[in-house]
Parts: sequence; structure tokens; C-alpha cells
Amino acid sequence: MLRNTRARWGALSQLFHWLIAALIAVQVVLGLTGVALPLGMAKLATLARHKSLGITILGLALLRLGWRAVNPTPALPGNLRPYERRLARLTHAALYALLIALPLTGWMMSSARGFPVSWFNLVQLPNLVSRNLPLYHTLVHVHVALAITLGAVLTLHIAAAIKHHFVLRDDILRRMLPGAPPRPMGAPQSAKE
Ligand code: HEM
Ligand code: HEM
Repeated sequence: MLRNTRARWGALSQLFHWLIAALIAVQVVLGLTGVALPLGMAKLATLARHKSLGITILGLALLRLGWRAVNPTPALPGNLRPYERRLARLTHAALYALLIALPLTGWMMSSARGFPVSWFNLVQLPNLVSRNLPLYHTLVHVHVALAITLGAVLTLHIAAAIKHHFVLRDDILRRMLPGAPPRPMGAPQSAKE
């Protein structure tokens, strides 16, 4: 089913989730490789790809949030403690915020450096700020700090998914995966699962 229900994520939400997860992995490799390469064509090409992919992630994140707004969201399991509930909401909000802030700071720093951003050489994007070298240096620091924050929040997010699946044995991971419909939330868990 394309749409979400109160019990599980629909196919489109799952596609957004796993596509963005895969693109983030590629994006971090492109960013780290681009920074490590010596000045030259390979560096420019890698960073150009990093920028185009980053803009793609921004577009997908906005579409994903739009789709989320017009769908029900699956309820968190009833047995979570209040602080776990708050932590889950906070982590998800932080991930969405980072999915927007990272591309925007990247785009702004490219504009401040005087390197216009294109999307795979197909669409020329406007400069977000005018050329300003001190601003560029500040934004590089902000971009890197946000990337490190994303790494930290994702570690927590993935650890939570593993805990839900293997320790609490609930349907949190399964309902983000295509396949069998999950048990109703709060239902007793079978011992052999
Ligand atoms: C979710 C999206 C993004 C992620 C996760 C991300 C992550 C990174 C990472 C990990 C680095 C390497 C930093 C370092 O080790 O110094 C980097 C560098 C860079 N990123 Fe991004 N980035 C994203 C989006 C963008 C976008 C949209 C642009 C531009 C339109 C951009 C422009 C750059 C540039 C120019 C660098 C090289 C910085 C330098 O000159 O030192 N990034 N990014
Ligand atoms: C191995 C990697 C990952 C695993 C195992 C994983 C697992 C999950 C699971 C099981 C959920 C569903 C939570 C629920 O039903 O309440 C979820 C939601 C979510 N994931 Fe991930 N995830 C991964 C990577 C990522 C990445 C890379 C991002 C973005 C940078 C991300 C962002 C989110 C967000 C924002 C939600 C909340 C959805 C919402 O409430 O709208 N995840 N993740």
C-alpha cells in the first residue's frame, strides 16, 4: 500500500526513508573524498557530484515531509517510557532538520565562495548569498559540524532500531520494511520470535 496507516509505513514513506539513507552514505563518501583530493579536475568533479546529490537529498527531504503531512503516522508502541517517546520524537525531528540544514549550508557556502551550484549540470541554481570569503569559512565549519552531528544522531537512531528489533522484539523495524503486515502495537510478543 502506498499510503501510511496507523500501524505501518506505506511503500512511498519506506522508499523515501531507504533511498535517502543510501544517498546519505554516498554523500558522506563524496564529501570526504572531495576534501581529501588535491586541487584538480578530480576534486572539482567529486565536489560537483557531492553538491548535485546534496540538492537531490534536499528535494527528497522536502517531498518526504510533504508526504508525511498528508498521511497518518504510525503510533509509537504503547510500552515506551515517556522519556523514550520524547527521545524518539526529538531524534526524528533532528534528522529532518539536518536533512535540510546540511544541503542549505552547503549551497550557501558554495555561493559565498563564488562557485555557483548546478544540479548535475542540468539546472543552474541561484546564489543564496553574495560572494563573501569570511562567511564561506564560517559556513564550512558549520557544514562539517552538522555532518558530525548527523553521524552522532544516526548512531543513536540505528542503535534504537537494533534494540527495538532484537531486544524489545517489537515491530518498529519491520514496519519500515516492505513485507508482512505487523502485529497490532502493544500485542503480546511470541516467545520464539
Ligand atoms: C545531506 C547533505 C550533505 C551532507 C551529509 C554533506 C556532508 C559533507 C561532508 C561530510 C563533507 C566533508 C567535510 C570535511 O571533511 O571537511 C562535505 C564537504 C563539502 N560539502 Fe557537503 N554535505 C551535504 C550537502 C552539500 C550540498 C548541497 C553542497 C553544495 C551545494 C555541499 C557542499 C560541500 C562542499 C563545497 C564541501 C567541501 C568543503 C571544503 O571546501 O572544505 N554539501 N559535505
Ligand atoms: C541503517 C540505517 C537506518 C535504520 C535501521 C533506520 C530505521 C528506522 C526505523 C525502523 C524507523 C521507523 C520508526 C517508527 O516506525 O516509529 C525510522 C524512522 C525514521 N528514520 Fe531511519 N533508519 C536508518 C537510517 C536513517 C537515515 C540515514 C535517516 C536520515 C538521515 C533516517 C531518518 C529517519 C526519520 C526522520 C524517521 C522518522 C520518520 C517519521 O516519523 O516521519 N533514518 N528509521
